[in-house]
Amino acid sequence: QPPSSQMEEISLLRRSNCRSKGGAPGFKVAILGAAGGIGQPLALLMKMNPLVSVLHLYDVVNTPGVTADISHMDTGAVVRGFLGQPQLESALIGMDLVIIPAGVPRKPGMTRDDLFNINAGIVRTLCEGIAKWCPNAIVNVISNPVNSTVPIAAEVFKQAGTYDPKHLLGVTTLDVVRANTFVAEVLGINPREVSVPVVGGHAGVTILPLLSQVNPPYSFTTEEIRYLTDRIQNGGTEVVEAKAGAGSATLSMAYAAAKFADACLRGLRGDAGIVECSFVASQVTELPFFASKVRLGRSGAEEIFPLGPLNEFERAGLEKAKKELAGSIQKGVSFIRK
Ligand code: NAD
Ligand code: LMR
Repeated sequence: QPPSSQMEEISLLRRSNCRSKGGAPGFKVAILGAAGGIGQPLALLMKMNPLVSVLHLYDVVNTPGVTADISHMDTGAVVRGFLGQPQLESALIGMDLVIIPAGVPRKPGMTRDDLFNINAGIVRTLCEGIAKWCPNAIVNVISNPVNSTVPIAAEVFKQAGTYDPKHLLGVTTLDVVRANTFVAEVLGINPREVSVPVVGGHAGVTILPLLSQVNPPYSFTTEEIRYLTDRIQNGGTEVVEAKAGAGSATLSMAYAAAKFADACLRGLRGDAGIVECSFVASQVTELPFFASKVRLGRSGAEEIFPLGPLNEFERAGLEKAKKELAGSIQKGVSFIRK
């Protein structure tokens, strides 16, 4: 009887061969921070995604257990675990999509920017690895503060000479998911039937829901607009306070990240008309990064849509959002350039 590590290797090889003979073509996806509050349910959801053929789970703790657990699911993706910096290279080589939920979450009373000092360094290190070992991968950044970590990632890739702005996407899907949910509550309809564009960034006033562009079209009262905008902008804080020190949104975030990753993979496959909101390098405003609707295709964020007509309330919100965003973007850029 070969030792268990050898048995595992044999089983992985058999399953890889099986896929290359009969299985549908799939994408190779890595999750960095896979043992965390978001990472674990996200790993579960990506293991269920039929577009994923190989799933790499990387973290600095606990990946052997999470990998063993997830690998027993009877879905197609082959799962491999990687533990600690020395295994980052193996985790990343050959990946088509890398999702980054690594980093510390908020506690009550903190802003997302309070996470900068720890998470900026984590994102920098992981992106240095991506630049070396899978420079062509699409990268989904979840780690907060997204308004700064995306510019950090861009600067790391620029320094490495691998930067492709179409490949770098900040994940703001949870804001859209929340907006759809809260609007559906007000309208008394199924959230799946609602679509609200949320633009700007991913923190407080930078989260700008465009309620005037809701689908199905609806004319909200001023009171409803104020309630909804405030609830969407503070959805993250609502969860942080309810968890009372035990972290921030993990389950709804894993759902949102899986939804966004699936859209990226369908774009990579060549599906037409895949549009999601994301925080990307942008010329939609004077800022170098901005979240708005983007069309996802074979090369990532292939088209960035303009904001469309805004009402007076949204125009005022946009000015506030831009002011805060400018500082957060600059903070991220300076962290790498200093
Ligand atoms: P968590 O503490 O539960 O998990 C984070 C994981 O990252 C841990 O397993 C930790 O070991 C791992 N990690 C730390 N340093 C690492 C490194 N150098 N390499 C790889 N892994 C590393 O936190 P969480 O609740 O999963 O949240 C993770 C991040 O996501 C936080 O920054 C949080 O603010 C952010 N977040 C973003 C959104 C969004 O909408 N973009 C939503 C929710 C949370
Ligand atoms: C969220 O919006 O839930 C995340 O950004 C986590 C947080 O700190 O609020």
